[in-house]
Amino acid sequence: MRIAVLLLAVVVVCAWLNPSAAEPEKKPAAPDYKRDVAPILEMKCNRCHTQNKAGGKLITTSVPAMLKGGASGPSIEPGSPDKSLLVELIHYNEMPPKREKPRVTPEELKTIKAWIAAGASEK
Ligand code: HEC
Repeated sequence: MRIAVLLLAVVVVCAWLNPSAAEPEKKPAAPDYKRDVAPILEMKCNRCHTQNKAGGKLITTSVPAMLKGGASGPSIEPGSPDKSLLVELIHYNEMPPKREKPRVTPEELKTIKAWIAAGASEK
């Protein structure tokens, strides 16, 4: 019994000395457009979504262009990845078009969604 009390005291003191251990995990910083998001779009989308060749009238080379969107309206909805057409089409494997490579990986989609959730800032 005495040992149990002692162990408990050690645990309490450790938690007190290291308060971060008791806190919930910190959220990772929001992805950065230029560093994290633009390279994915560059590699997997821009081939078909530029000024000169804009599938669905959509340009994916800048944030304002994606906010404006294409034939179906805005492609991204800042703060709401699940309402963003761009996310929806990647999610359902509609973009890039079915037989096109390279595909967007689940990790990349997660990055894009986190960026939109954080407000889709271009900074
Ligand atoms: C091989 C060419 C090609 C690639 C690569 C491609 N797209 Fe597309 N995309 C198209 C075409 C063509 C359309 C129009 C399709 C239609 O209207 O049926 C389109 C339409 C869209 C639309 C709908 C636009 C609207 O308003 O109707 C979105 C959003 C979109 N693409 C996003 C993406 C994203 C994001 C990527 C990269 C992950 C991507 N596309 C890669 C050819 C491509």
